[in-house]
Amino acid sequence: MTSLRAVKGMNDVLPDEIARWHRVEATFAKTMALYGFREVRTPYVEPTSLFVRTMGEATDVVEKEMYSFVHHDEPLTLRPEGTAGAARAYVEHGVASREPVTRWYYVGPMFRAERPQRGRYRQFSQVGAEVFGDAGPAVDAEMIDMLVVFLETIGVRDARVLVNSMGGPGARARYKEALVRYLEPKKAGLSEDSQRRLATNPLRILDSKDPRDQEAVAGAPAITELLDAEDDAHWRGLTRHLAALGVRYEAAPRLVRGLDYYTRTLFEIKGATDKLGAGDTLVGGGRYDGMIADLGGPSVPAIGFAAGLERLILASDVEVAAPAVPVFVATLGDAAVAYGLPLAHELRRAGIACEVDARAGSLKSKLRRANTQGARVTLIVGDSEVEGGTVQLKDMGAQTQDKVARADVVAAVVSRLGAS
Ligand code: HAM
Repeated sequence: MTSLRAVKGMNDVLPDEIARWHRVEATFAKTMALYGFREVRTPYVEPTSLFVRTMGEATDVVEKEMYSFVHHDEPLTLRPEGTAGAARAYVEHGVASREPVTRWYYVGPMFRAERPQRGRYRQFSQVGAEVFGDAGPAVDAEMIDMLVVFLETIGVRDARVLVNSMGGPGARARYKEALVRYLEPKKAGLSEDSQRRLATNPLRILDSKDPRDQEAVAGAPAITELLDAEDDAHWRGLTRHLAALGVRYEAAPRLVRGLDYYTRTLFEIKGATDKLGAGDTLVGGGRYDGMIADLGGPSVPAIGFAAGLERLILASDVEVAAPAVPVFVATLGDAAVAYGLPLAHELRRAGIACEVDARAGSLKSKLRRANTQGARVTLIVGDSEVEGGTVQLKDMGAQTQDKVARADVVAAVVSRLGAS
């Protein structure tokens, strides 16, 4: 029989690694609370048309990477990102009529059928946030500053912040024209994909990884040269606020990002390539002022970001110790099990984590297990303890052992844990 394995690009996270995940998730939730964001949970499955309409038909994700299926005639997709679902929920629940500004964050799995490699998976987790109802640019700068603080707190060093502006629909249209004019004479030298994109979605050529495309776009015009007066004021406002906050950033005139919904502010935060390989973008985000109206809601501006949790964990320098189980109850024989289980129950009710080893086996093997679990105290129960109404309390650090009356065990454990 062939052995069953996880789906390619979809990974297990075993308990040995989970402490690192918990730490990043907890720091994220704490940071979000500091900035007034509240958690939203949206479904993992959405109507396929939601992603086609928001992310854009001619994007890599929609063209090639979605896990889509038809269920009872309904086209559905495993969510490849969180923004479209959050925006749908915001419109569906009429949130705009209840509050002028909404700050939401989310954490959870996303699905994209990409070619798996280090830092790039088919099921991955994002932490992300969206602000609806604030046209910026102060909130844009605040969000980027928040991310810099978050990355520092989880121990990501050497992160580079790249910022650009896409302008509004007018600037985007002018830029597309300028880009096509610039690339048309170079068409034969572009990759096959980009030759096709020149007609369908020329902006995508700017983030192609193909060296032929990268060479061709090296001297392409910058979109910031084509902004209208309002876009330009927004862009200058953003850079002014970033400077006031002391955020070190690089203006990246050819940063366009892989999704079609962006308007004005765009940003990415890159980590060190030696740790992350090809997937060195930790965070991606930007403004999408047209999406809420496109989904049938009121005209509400929005901005957000998402970061890949696996990448954050790869990039973070901090070692995290796995939490130990401080108390181990080693029972020897049937009567001892019946005596030890209620004892463990009592300890847990008092908030003390413990593990009961009720298996048949020698005291020596149970003490070995207590050690590997990091126990600081082992309570040994055999027939004579059951008869005498006591336990043997072994302090694993000091290597001492004392007889303690059953009624005093919880207090004795508390005092021993407090002392060592
Ligand atoms: P994105 O750039 O597609 O943007 O993804 C954001 C982040 O998710 C990436 O920077 C990366 O860290 C992580 N990521 C993406 N694909 C993978 C993958 N296959 N494996 C591992 N990590 C991955 C968005 O998703 C937008 N929704 C961000 C946003 C929110 N814009 C506005 N609001």
